[in-house]
Amino acid sequence: MSGVNKNIVILISGSGSNMAAIVETARTQRWQTRFGARVAAVISNKAAAQGLVWAKAQGIATAALDHTAYASREDFDAALMSGIDRHEPGLVVLAGFMRILTPGFVRHYEGRLVNIHPSLLPAFTGLKTHQRAIDMGCRFAGATVHRVTSELDHGEILDQAVVPVMPGDTAETLAARVLTQEHLIYPRAIEALLQKG
Ligand code: GAR
Repeated sequence: MSGVNKNIVILISGSGSNMAAIVETARTQRWQTRFGARVAAVISNKAAAQGLVWAKAQGIATAALDHTAYASREDFDAALMSGIDRHEPGLVVLAGFMRILTPGFVRHYEGRLVNIHPSLLPAFTGLKTHQRAIDMGCRFAGATVHRVTSELDHGEILDQAVVPVMPGDTAETLAARVLTQEHLIYPRAIEALLQKG
């Protein structure tokens, strides 16, 4: 987080429930008063993302940038960076943003870019984390908040939550159990970063 600037920009691709948990915690925990921090914008690569509707209704600036409209990953990331930088972010939060980011993007936000991943990293990087945990016979699963580096789903771990894998779990039932924990640890990890300044 850069010294004075505590603007938070959140990137989503879908329902945005983690984003909503962060916005609500910012309000109930008075981040603006305590840290001078606010959620300045929510940006999606999908215009139809449910989370955009919710964010807009909260009075938050929203934008959609369709990645399929760009010729290359680099072109999309360049447009995304300019959409983000207009809000002068001290922190960029990936909350179910389902795009692999270019090294240039990651470098640009180095030290102010965080992600939540639905597994106990370093186990199960990538996709289909819940099904893979079930298939491996894991007794526990969970989620990880981490800093973003150019290596996918790596970077310093900031917080984690563990849930049991129950007999008969499907990827869906396990995902739902993990998601309730995500809503607790993501706001908590961000608040810890804000506290550090
Ligand atoms: C969350 O479970 C998040 O951990 C996951 O997508 C979901 C988004 O839900 N992220 C990834 O898989 C990133 N690789 P949400 O839109 O309701 O916050």
